[in-house]
Amino acid sequence: MRGVGLMEFGGPEVLQIVDLPEVHAGPGEVRLRVQAATINPTDTGLRGGLRAEAMRRDPPPYIPGMDAAGVIDEVGPDTDTSLAVGDLVMAMVLPSGSHGAYRESIVLTADSVVRAPKGATAAEASTLPMNGLTARQSLDQLALQPGQTIAVTGAAGCYGGYVVQLAKADGLRVIADASPADEALVRSLGADVVVPRGDDIAARIRAVAPEGVDGLADGAVQQELAIGAVRDGGGFASVRGWRGNEERGITFHRTWVGSYDHRPDLLDRLRQQVEDGQLTLRVAATYPVEQAAEAHRRFQAGGTRGRLVIRFD
Ligand SMILES: NC(=O)c1ccc[n+]([C@@H]2O[C@H](COP(=O)([O-])OP(=O)(O)OC[C@H]3O[C@@H](n4cnc5c(N)ncnc54)[C@H](OP(=O)(O)O)[C@@H]3O)[C@@H](O)[C@H]2O)c1
Repeated sequence: MRGVGLMEFGGPEVLQIVDLPEVHAGPGEVRLRVQAATINPTDTGLRGGLRAEAMRRDPPPYIPGMDAAGVIDEVGPDTDTSLAVGDLVMAMVLPSGSHGAYRESIVLTADSVVRAPKGATAAEASTLPMNGLTARQSLDQLALQPGQTIAVTGAAGCYGGYVVQLAKADGLRVIADASPADEALVRSLGADVVVPRGDDIAARIRAVAPEGVDGLADGAVQQELAIGAVRDGGGFASVRGWRGNEERGITFHRTWVGSYDHRPDLLDRLRQQVEDGQLTLRVAATYPVEQAAEAHRRFQAGGTRGRLVIRFD
């Protein structure tokens, strides 16, 4: 069985097709024939060695990938699930050793897996779990009330785009940043106000929310450049663990999607929101498994809108 993995950490060129042993679903587990796996910033980080110490607890090959979609082809014994062989499903994967989403076949606990949205392809479905859950977590941490205002940096990106759409579904007013080329995209996601992205992002947000925003989700990792946009006593959700100086009574939330694993209720709600038209699945391009290194190169060059997806045909 094939996977895309690496024997040693490095640039995109270290990615290679690797042969992996067959896996089977045990009790409480299902096996997916993976059809699609997204490329995320965390994958390029893993490949480059950001998590080398933790990954080296297992022997190589190391397999990246946090999102998978495909068809269930095995349900383990004594598995309490409504999922059945043949269902098109999606799941978040927390990579460890050779257990990552870039593989043709993966075993997951049944409570990490939900049906794909009706009408979605595997490639489309694969774009939802990890970033959708991350966006949901940031919003849950900020715990804003309908009518309150959230600012979103990196709104054209995968996480930022989902934050914009989920925030609108939660009844929030959304101020989002965008480059001129992305303004129409970010508006189409539902942002009430779009401000130009850039180093003076805090001042640009304050220009349209002079009192400061109630919360900010920092998809572009703007940190000290963005914190000035948050009102005294507001909230700041960091996807990179940033805590600032704990200033002005602001609550700093560290979003870490791993704590939303095994939450089929949350993932299934995201599925429903796609079916209800509240969330948009965006695929920039798909790459056959043999071109995974090329896909990583393109992703790292920046500027992709929607996710790049590796497909296992
Ligand atoms: N903690 C967690 O659990 C977790 C989970 C998921 C993601 N994350 C993190 O969340 C971040 C976003 O992930 P993603 O998948 O959404 O990435 P993405 O799709 O690449 O989105 C980032 C967006 O920010 C834009 N951007 C770059 N510099 C900017 C700036 N100065 N001002 C405004 N926008 C800017 C990028 O535009 P260009 O393409 O033009 O550069 C891109 O549109 C990453 O740092 C990722 O590692 C963390």
